[in-house]
Amino acid sequence: MKWWQNAVVYQIYPRSFQDSNGDGLGDIRGIIQRLDYLEELGIDAIWLSPVYQSPNDDNGYDISDYQAIHPEFGTMDDMDELIEEAKKRSIRIVMDLVVNHTSDEHEWFKDAKSGVNAKYRDYYIWRDPIDGEEPNDLKSTFSGSAWTFDENSQQYYLHLFSKKQPDLNWENPKMRQDIYKMMNFWLEKGIGGFRMDVIDLIGKVPDEKITDKGPRLHEFLQEMNHETFGQYDVMTVGETWSATPENAELFSGADRDELSMVFQFEHITLDQEPESKWALKALDLVELKTVLSKWQTSLSDSAWNSLFWNNHDTPRVVSRWGNDQEYRVESAKCFAVLLHLMKGTPYIYQGEEIGMTNRLVKDISEVKDIESINMYKEELENGKHSEELLNAINHKGRDNARTPMQWNDEMNAGFSKGTPWIAVNSNHNEINVEQAIADQESIFYTYKELIQYRKENEAVVLGAYNLLLPNHQQVFAYERTHKGNKIIVAANLSEESASIELPETSEKASVRFSNYDRKQVDSTEWILKPYECFVIENVNQ
Ligand code: GLC
Ligand code: CA
Repeated sequence: MKWWQNAVVYQIYPRSFQDSNGDGLGDIRGIIQRLDYLEELGIDAIWLSPVYQSPNDDNGYDISDYQAIHPEFGTMDDMDELIEEAKKRSIRIVMDLVVNHTSDEHEWFKDAKSGVNAKYRDYYIWRDPIDGEEPNDLKSTFSGSAWTFDENSQQYYLHLFSKKQPDLNWENPKMRQDIYKMMNFWLEKGIGGFRMDVIDLIGKVPDEKITDKGPRLHEFLQEMNHETFGQYDVMTVGETWSATPENAELFSGADRDELSMVFQFEHITLDQEPESKWALKALDLVELKTVLSKWQTSLSDSAWNSLFWNNHDTPRVVSRWGNDQEYRVESAKCFAVLLHLMKGTPYIYQGEEIGMTNRLVKDISEVKDIESINMYKEELENGKHSEELLNAINHKGRDNARTPMQWNDEMNAGFSKGTPWIAVNSNHNEINVEQAIADQESIFYTYKELIQYRKENEAVVLGAYNLLLPNHQQVFAYERTHKGNKIIVAANLSEESASIELPETSEKASVRFSNYDRKQVDSTEWILKPYECFVIENVNQ
């Protein structure tokens, strides 16, 4: 077994985690101060969103120097100390690797822009205008065309994200070697691996409007593996919005020499209409069960799933698919139990372990995220109403997950002594780490217990998955079986009680987790209270 197969990863969005010097921005020293908390939770690795030098057009996902720490986050010494201090607590640091694009303020792009014969010109993707216009109609994820005209050279450059995020040209072998050198710089520091930002885009063929399934994508990943992390005992997880169970094996099959696993997003797109993430649609639980179960059962034994409900790009799951008011605690525990007992590596997004919620905004001036702001402007021009757009932002905007971590009920939730870069959620008086630690029944202890349970239970790590009650409209239930040992997981994801019938169990069967104080197995007929979940162990012993 690889170390990352029974590991749990915790994602830190550093701007919003802990500010140590009162400038309102989270920083590396702040993370170091909170390592004991993470050790207490029991996680094995931190995925650290970018802390590199960056003009912050996209909060650090626009990197201007891969081998320098942004001064607002600290120094390289702080970074080395973080790796060291984390290691003392058996926590590995997984760095965010953003190599589909750089910032337009990266030295390579500054040079590239200086003229068609510049040394680094070909590190990026340039095209002549066609009939005086963009080479084609490729769109940026952050609204508008993916092409921006450069007056100086009279050519367009490609950016699949903001115009301050020019795409690197992976066809250029020298560029690739420079990236590998940079990756080895980090690997030599003893990091635990890489989370690879939009990595399925690096094989793009813009002229054919192919973005995510380029013909050379897997060749590049294999080369990267051989030249860099393949030599180390690290984990790699690719962010791949295009992943399907079939191609996930190409990325992460054990014999492929590519990645440890990918983040798939099929479940994340279930509550939207096909045209865009902003076109809201209610989640159908049966669909959610179908999609997640398909991923559970269709990856072969050689590939591996990643498991997550939310990250810095999505709303918070308890607000999105649970109930963040009356049943906040119950529903947050349901999502914890469902995810952590599946097969794969679970990822916790900061604050999820205490049931942090979305934060609603009333006006666009409260919004910080470039994606939401650009969408709002563009759609207003298209004639949409402000209320409708703000409603979409409140449901799907990325700021929901980016509000400061809620540590206590003091000023700014204990996140900062200064003015936070983004407003703290006003519910921090009730929802915070201090409160969670003091309450043995809190969501925090459910996460802690689940992390421990995974470590002690091979069935959780390796057991076969089988969906139960596939068509039930309220309850998500499944079983995991390993060497004759079976557990059953059931969660009622609705506000009404639900009745179900579960398989026959042995006399030794007992209730392991319960968010309603359920103690024993009485029969095969169960009536679940609103957002009730439980786990039965020793099902057939
Ligand atoms: C990924 C990141 C997101 C970023 C984008 C461009 O999707 O998770 O935050 O904006 O890539 O780098
Ligand atoms: Ca700071």
